[in-house]
Amino acid sequence: MSDKENDTLISSAEKLALNIAGNRSELHVNTDQMIDAARKYITPFESFFEMYSCAIMEMETKFNVLNKQFSLIYDGNPIVYMVSRVKDIFSVLKKLDSKKLPHTVESIEKNIKDMAGVRVVCSFIEDIYRLEKCLLSQDDVTLIEKKDYIANPKPSGYRSLHLIVSIPIFLEHDKKDITVEVQLRTIAMDFWANLEHKLKYKKNIDQQKYNELSRELVDCAQTIASLDERMQNVRDCLPKDNVGQPQTIEELMQDIMHN
Ligand code: GTP
Ligand code: MG
Repeated sequence: MSDKENDTLISSAEKLALNIAGNRSELHVNTDQMIDAARKYITPFESFFEMYSCAIMEMETKFNVLNKQFSLIYDGNPIVYMVSRVKDIFSVLKKLDSKKLPHTVESIEKNIKDMAGVRVVCSFIEDIYRLEKCLLSQDDVTLIEKKDYIANPKPSGYRSLHLIVSIPIFLEHDKKDITVEVQLRTIAMDFWANLEHKLKYKKNIDQQKYNELSRELVDCAQTIASLDERMQNVRDCLPKDNVGQPQTIEELMQDIMHN
């Protein structure tokens, strides 16, 4: 895609954003015109955003495979659920502005590392680090950045393991490396982060109440951290079901073939 085409795509999206954000009756835009504008301006963007959806599919597959494999080797599935999303164009434009970056596709590819996001929610902290190790040992996965907010929680109390990784996606004629932000956390961390996120974006709340609830959430975060640790300790004390059983897929295959 040429720079000119890129610029056209971005300015088209901005026009659309302005239309949507503006007062529709003042602009004399009716619903049919809105739909036509959306078709005209959003469709060219779809293939660019589609690459990030493909990267998400690849990443989810990697985690689904690891989840299956772990469930054969260990007791139970490490992943409870996954949530994925491609950042929408309006959030992208806001982020570019906040970083004073140009509104071009090239600038998005270079600077916005969380266009594709996969959140992996586990029961236990140990599973998070085990999944991280397995993911990063795959030869098509390149680690770009790691932030361990479990070892070093944010002042808000936020805890999760963040990995920015690059993975290839294979298109009709070429291969493209796409960055994906992977957030790994426990169910308890996810429970906390979702509520804290709601508080952060509440507009109709006075400052005093906001500060009070933020302090309460910092306290909840500490309780949750100690709960995660205690749950992990209980699991570590449970007798293993798989003593003497195959520990890797290769061992499992050997076992099946020879018995
Ligand atoms: P950007 O990449 O520019 O967003 O900044 P950054 O790299 O400093 O972000 P960071 O890696 O710390 O966090 C990115 C994502 O983690 C956010 O979009 C949230 O999903 C999540 N996150 C980070 N901090 C918090 C927090 O304090 N509370 C909640 N609820 N989520 C957080
Ligand atoms: Mg980030």
